[in-house]
Amino acid sequence: MKTGGLVLSIIFGAFGHSQELTLTPAQTAGPFYPGFNQTQQSGDSDLSNNFTAHGTPIVIKAKVSNKAGEVIPNALIHIWQTDGIAGRYFNDDRTEALDVNFDYYGKSISQEDGRFSFRTIRPIEYPAGEDWIRPDHIHLRVFVGNQIKLTTQIYFSGDEFLEQDLILQNMSDEERKTVIIDYKKNEELSREQEKTILEGKLHLVID
Ligand SMILES: [Fe+2]
Repeated sequence: MKTGGLVLSIIFGAFGHSQELTLTPAQTAGPFYPGFNQTQQSGDSDLSNNFTAHGTPIVIKAKVSNKAGEVIPNALIHIWQTDGIAGRYFNDDRTEALDVNFDYYGKSISQEDGRFSFRTIRPIEYPAGEDWIRPDHIHLRVFVGNQIKLTTQIYFSGDEFLEQDLILQNMSDEERKTVIIDYKKNEELSREQEKTILEGKLHLVID
């Protein structure tokens, strides 16, 4: 009986665990969060201005859910990142020219099925301190109602600066997998735009 109970609890334990999704890890907003008011009409879900911004064009297809996988509609997602020219934020103190075709920040709202998407370009790395180069990353902040539910960053698989990044080093392997994204060519958009557009899939899991 004892053995049977143990086996059962292991089975239930494993089953229970597999039903819970890994929470997307919280990460610093960094010093360049534009802080735009969520009621302001600043920025939309196309930071790339129809892929005219400098850099590798990408589209992110994403969804928001809780740990049980229940989708979350009407979440507001703030997006901000560097450009594809010099790795600049529009509000940093560097002096290289900004990309006039790039928006630097935007927002998206999850639909009834929890899905949202945005268009942008692959950001480029920038120095964050002595001996520390941030890998290419996109900052995201998720609001549900007026509450900030998550502030995080997403990355690009294969990036040469992932391994030595101090922020990624603080995560478990499982957490890292949720924010390092694989990209493949989006055939339809690429045909339409007559250039290669990459697509990445993202699942944000919030409490
Ligand atoms: Fe950053």
